[in-house]
Amino acid sequence: MSLTIHQGVSLADRTTLKLGGTALAEVVVRDRDGLRELPDALARLGGTPVVWGWGSNLLPKDGQLDVVLIRPCFEQQPEVVAEDAKTARVRCGAWVRLPKLVSWAARRGYRGLARLAGIPGTIGGAVAMNAGSYGGEFCSRLSAVDIWSPLQRVQTLPKGDFDYAYRRFNPGLDAPWCVLSAELELDRDDRDAVVKTVRETLLQKKSTQPVHAATAGCVFKNPEGMSAGRLLDACGFKGKRLGGMGFSDLHANFLVNYGNGTAAQALELMDEAARVVAEEYGTRLEPEVKIVG
Ligand code: EPU
Repeated sequence: MSLTIHQGVSLADRTTLKLGGTALAEVVVRDRDGLRELPDALARLGGTPVVWGWGSNLLPKDGQLDVVLIRPCFEQQPEVVAEDAKTARVRCGAWVRLPKLVSWAARRGYRGLARLAGIPGTIGGAVAMNAGSYGGEFCSRLSAVDIWSPLQRVQTLPKGDFDYAYRRFNPGLDAPWCVLSAELELDRDDRDAVVKTVRETLLQKKSTQPVHAATAGCVFKNPEGMSAGRLLDACGFKGKRLGGMGFSDLHANFLVNYGNGTAAQALELMDEAARVVAEEYGTRLEPEVKIVG
């Protein structure tokens, strides 16, 4: 089956924050035949379509939500499509997890993704959010992206035909566009050196971020030239809890679900934090997580 529909799916089961209500349905698309059937399926199901990867940057609201998830299960494993003495061009399906691609590239001595180690999402999500850490940005390595949209259908956009910025990717297509695969240009380097950078990055994250907790990464974007975590910490939000949710004791810009947290609690904490930071520092914090519903 190239397209499978599940009715009434739990969003808590589909987010790393482990919260949120129920979506009308989810459409699992496995290949390009499935994409041809997708517009009719979406029209039949109604609701707002939302492309949904690993759910590691999403905060869905509680209760019944009028949304239909598109799950782009394009599992094409990483492969080298061209290589010369200095660079390697690598293609990878949207459903492959970023940590898998990072370690695959490191084992081959391909540099360019090592500073993204520890980011949990899928390749599709890494493109859509321009995932980044420690100065590394996923989209800066993109040489082309295969992408689907309801009107334009499947297209290959080469570098230059899409824009990206801090945690933002814009293919200039009608929503809901959906990444199918990414092609990256990586630098060839010494294998041990790349593996070492990956290990150091993971250790660095482990000591500064709650990497094993139920979170969606940083909840607010860093305002230009500032750290949201530092501002929240200075305003006393580190460790602050409401019900089952709380700002991490380790890093104030991470919300943690301690077991029975709800989206309402998460949103209330975010509202309060944004209000206090605005009052004390005159800075407006913008959510980095995508709020759904
Ligand atoms: N800081 C505090 N208190 C805190 C947290 C941070 O004082 O509670 C200080 C740190 O000591 C440091 C500064 O703030 O001096 C910056 O902190 P950190 O290095 O942890 O980075 P960040 O700016 O908070 C950003 C990204 C992270 C990414 C790290 C590493 C955003 C919103 N956050 O965090 O990305 O992993 O840099 O590059 O851009 C994400 O996008 O979800 C994410 C986690």
